[in-house]
Amino acid sequence: MKKITDNVYEMEHPLIQHKITMLRDKNTGTNEFRKMVEEIAMLMGFEALSDLPLMEVDIETPIEKCKSPVIAGRKLAIVPILRAGLGMVPGILALTPTAKVGHIGMYRDEVTHEPHEYYCKLPSPIEQRTIVVTDPMLATGGSAVDAVTQIKKHGGKRIKFLSIIAAPEGIKKLHEAHPDVELYVGHIDRCLNENAYICPGLGDAGDRIFGTK
Ligand code: PRP
Ligand code: URA
Repeated sequence: MKKITDNVYEMEHPLIQHKITMLRDKNTGTNEFRKMVEEIAMLMGFEALSDLPLMEVDIETPIEKCKSPVIAGRKLAIVPILRAGLGMVPGILALTPTAKVGHIGMYRDEVTHEPHEYYCKLPSPIEQRTIVVTDPMLATGGSAVDAVTQIKKHGGKRIKFLSIIAAPEGIKKLHEAHPDVELYVGHIDRCLNENAYICPGLGDAGDRIFGTK
């Protein structure tokens, strides 16, 4: 994992890079695409959660008593941004099966590219939890900024944002609006095009995960 700036990290693992290439390929079908999103989310989650605090507990092995570490404190909440963020949830849940799952529904206006929130249901209380927000695409950053603002309004404090592909514009916008949020991206792409799509990107993540359009 490479540190880009404070609280912004880009993945370097060859497996993540390989799977992102498969995602980008326009010939990758829905079934494979979904599987790749899940696998990449698990690999990224593994990296992003490497600082979870541990505490020692007393256990007894078949051989003897010993102290051994477990994850300390309140557990996790995973919050996908609908729709596309949903595709990353099974990958994170595979790592942390007891995590609670909230949902934030956002869609981008096709003309203005402004985000609109249509749903929000978060685990309560959320204050003590590490919150993992998932959305495969960070383009203008509008959806991410609004989603994080909403989570903070509900009391969320420790937020990690996982995005498979990000444009520099989106990273800047999210980091400036919420510098305390730890942002983990699979790959930083070149730029946005005139329709605010990421280049080279992978197209519309929601449509490719759910087979719509
Ligand atoms: C996509 C994507 C992000 C958003 C990124 O969702 O999953 O949520 O666009 O763009 P932004 O950074 O410019 O806000 P979309 O609005 O297409 O909704 P969908 O997931 O339901 O397809
Ligand atoms: N949303 C997507 O799904 N893809 C993009 O490139 C930009 C926003």
